[in-house]
Amino acid sequence: MKRHKHDSGMTRRQFVAMTASATAGLAMARTSGAAKIRIGLIGCGGRGTAAVKDCLTSSQGVELVALGDLFPDHLAKCRENLASVATVDDRHAFTGFDAYQKVLESKIDLVLLATPPAFRARHLAAAIDAGKHVFMEKPIAVDATGVRSVMATADLAAQKGLAIVAGTQRRHDVGYQAAIQRIHDGAIGELVGGQVYWNQGGLWMHPREPAWSDVEWQIRNWLYFTWLSGDHIVEQHVHNIDVANWAFGAHPVKAVGVGGRQSRTDPAYGHIYDHFAVEFEYPGGVRVQSMCRQIAGTASRVAERFVGTRGTSDGHSVIAGAAPWAWDPQTEKTNPYVLEHRDLIASIRAGHPLNEGRQVAESTLTAIMGREAAYTGQEITWDDMLNAPQDLVPSDVQFGEMPVASVAIPGRTAVARNWRGA
Ligand SMILES: NC(=O)c1ccc[n+]([C@@H]2O[C@H](COP(=O)([O-])OP(=O)(O)OC[C@H]3O[C@@H](n4cnc5c(N)ncnc54)[C@H](O)[C@@H]3O)[C@@H](O)[C@H]2O)c1
Repeated sequence: MKRHKHDSGMTRRQFVAMTASATAGLAMARTSGAAKIRIGLIGCGGRGTAAVKDCLTSSQGVELVALGDLFPDHLAKCRENLASVATVDDRHAFTGFDAYQKVLESKIDLVLLATPPAFRARHLAAAIDAGKHVFMEKPIAVDATGVRSVMATADLAAQKGLAIVAGTQRRHDVGYQAAIQRIHDGAIGELVGGQVYWNQGGLWMHPREPAWSDVEWQIRNWLYFTWLSGDHIVEQHVHNIDVANWAFGAHPVKAVGVGGRQSRTDPAYGHIYDHFAVEFEYPGGVRVQSMCRQIAGTASRVAERFVGTRGTSDGHSVIAGAAPWAWDPQTEKTNPYVLEHRDLIASIRAGHPLNEGRQVAESTLTAIMGREAAYTGQEITWDDMLNAPQDLVPSDVQFGEMPVASVAIPGRTAVARNWRGA
């Protein structure tokens, strides 16, 4: 079963313009003697390995220097997958819970963070502390403590002149950029509502092996544990929720929601839900319905839709109504997973580092607010969620025993403070 990905595109003219600006940045960096960008990867799984390839193809003068992963087998697979494009010597290939520190101690300029979300806030803080530019995958946290930490670290990065780009790649997709700009310019009038969806089938699961401790089993199946992934509303649906926050230019003020675990009930799938439906209320009382599902055999829909007083838009290709517009389907497509790295590196070389830390932290908190509305069956406000004493990630994660928290029951479950669900 594959992950569901969204494609994107850009015109040849835009491509040429962007390449020209990246080249100008490169020239500027050359004059300042900082042309080569050395990168390291922390979290060498599917996305991390692909992100290295995307980063290397995005810009000239990028070199992979260091790799770090918790598990030796994952590191080996990553090195094998990268062999045709880059090799890293054994002295710069690290494993274990402290692999991230060793990557950060290597001579790198930019680090790519692609572990499960639980570790992101701490790895980001360490990376900015070490003076590295960052590309980090979404979501950037699983709980309120992680979100607050990322907001503070993003501010610190701005002070230090360090870049942070997040893996919410729709922000770098030229179709989305064109449509959202038109929405901001009033093409569909005043926004009065919207819908966001991530409905798909099931995902991978690794049956438990006898040698695995509780923690090893959970990290190898990180999708299915809220302390590791944030649940799928946070882990996947954050993409569409992020587009809604972008279109509205704001985060919601509260959420109500329902959800449950109807199909994926086997304990092999941890304790997360398999479906959510949440209503987010934006400033001015405007409501956005959100829906996400991971149930095998069901229909897919990964999309956004915005409704205004003068028209509607899918957020990336079409505007219908008083000022109709459509993305030309003949135009050349460029992968936004590559564009996000090109934009990041161009910004570093131009001396104007992008900083998407707060934006993705707000989108992650929006998704967490939706999760908690569904888990508890209560209305959850932004301020409640932002200030919640919720810290789901143990302070020192090590292999060993770790019981699985109960499945949340609306009406009985409160906003969890820790990984136990208590
Ligand atoms: N932007 C996108 O479209 C997109 C697509 C897929 C995944 N993602 C995100 O990328 C991240 C990784 O997802 P994935 O699909 O690559 O998962 P994965 O399981 O394939 O990879 C995660 C890797 O991190 C390693 N890891 C776990 N804990 C670690 C630690 N403490 N230190 C170092 N390494 C550790 C694992 O061993 C594994 O190799 C997630 O946040 C996910 O949401 C984003």
